[in-house]
Amino acid sequence: MENQMPREEGFDHSFGLLKEGYNFIKNRSENLNSNVFETRILGKKAICMTGEEAAALFYDATKFQRTDAAPNRIVQSLFGKDSVQTLDGEEHKNRKALLMSVMHQESITNLLEITSNQWEQSIDKWTKMEQIELYEEVKELLCKVAFKWIGAPLHENEVKTMTKELAAMFESPAAIGPAHWMGRTLRNVIEKTVQQMIQDTRDKKVQYPKDSVLHKFAFHKDVDGQLLDAETATVEVINMLRPIVAIAIYINFTVLALLQFPEQKEKLKNYPDYAKMFVQEVRRYYPFFPFVAAKVKSDFTWNGYDFKEGTLTLLDLYGTNHDPQIWDNPDEFQPERFANWEGTPFSFIPQGGGDYYLGHRCAGEGITIDVMKVSLDYLVNKIEFNMPEQNLDFEMDDIPSIPKSKIVLSHVKRINTQ
Ligand code: HEM
Repeated sequence: MENQMPREEGFDHSFGLLKEGYNFIKNRSENLNSNVFETRILGKKAICMTGEEAAALFYDATKFQRTDAAPNRIVQSLFGKDSVQTLDGEEHKNRKALLMSVMHQESITNLLEITSNQWEQSIDKWTKMEQIELYEEVKELLCKVAFKWIGAPLHENEVKTMTKELAAMFESPAAIGPAHWMGRTLRNVIEKTVQQMIQDTRDKKVQYPKDSVLHKFAFHKDVDGQLLDAETATVEVINMLRPIVAIAIYINFTVLALLQFPEQKEKLKNYPDYAKMFVQEVRRYYPFFPFVAAKVKSDFTWNGYDFKEGTLTLLDLYGTNHDPQIWDNPDEFQPERFANWEGTPFSFIPQGGGDYYLGHRCAGEGITIDVMKVSLDYLVNKIEFNMPEQNLDFEMDDIPSIPKSKIVLSHVKRINTQ
């Protein structure tokens, strides 16, 4: 039997999306008392969904597609043209296998060693400074890490430009929020530089290590057995660089959590296993990606509701991570909830849900957790600092949301462990 899907009346709710940000879907879902509803965004009909059951539906690739789903501006500024995020079926499988092929243990160990070394170098610098803006510093730290990991360490004089361009891709609301979907494209120097690296390795002018991201991506063959065109290979290398820098947002929230919930520090110092739970709770509790977008592949009916081919559909990531049907006291910060956590691939979805290889779940989720753990260890066990008076508020209508002061630390010192 078909039912009318609960619907928000009105011509367009793009403004509501801007004003309510991370809470847009959750607020409406609560008001309409339904985990799926219809609204209008950017002048078109759109379906919004939240919760575990909805996530399982959204990640069913027989029902939803990514091709032509995200607004053009997002594709251009965040993902890049023809990137893995915009592919379906065999093409997606082939490309995703490439991205996952650099997530093996040896490569991860290498990334974490590079990350530790970089923390050491940055701390040496910070201890000589009166105060630092942690967010800006950690973005640069991670930018150096990212380039070194792909096989092409940056020269010191390139760091600021590269950090700025990579960060602009996810900081600009054009990236993951709707506020400036009409904004400008933000890839200039970085695209030229990475494309040159791809070209140079293909022309054998530069030899990057055989198992490096650059080498692998430069010589990857797509479903037709052809090398990726240089632009697409570039887009996928940037798909590794940009989000590594974006981990700075989570590291900022990590520090905020240590401040907001001071009792956590003792637990982290006393119980080594607590770090993983703490990191998971930071990813669940704080906002980062509000939702992901797909398009209905062909007409189908679900729970009595009609899904019409081509309809833009948004899955609520933030709201699902705060859904009281999945989480006890979802608005409390409780890392212990992850001690014996038995979730499904659709219940805890800060970086998307479903399967890594067959679906669009974030290729870098594992390394995000690992890099956060290494960074947390530095913040809790290896340095101490003061926090001058500052505005630590973050807003639910800022996408991505970052504490206003960007976390200012003063008098950073190493903790003497002798
Ligand atoms: C900084 C924290 C991160 C967050 C919050 C995050 C979040 C996400 C989200 C929400 C998606 C979309 C899932 C979907 O479309 O269903 C995604 C996809 C993706 N992420 Fe991440 N991510 C992060 C870090 C990383 C890292 C470190 C990497 C790699 C170095 C990475 C690489 C990717 C790629 C390649 C995709 C596209 C996967 C596909 O379409 O199949 N991400 N991420």
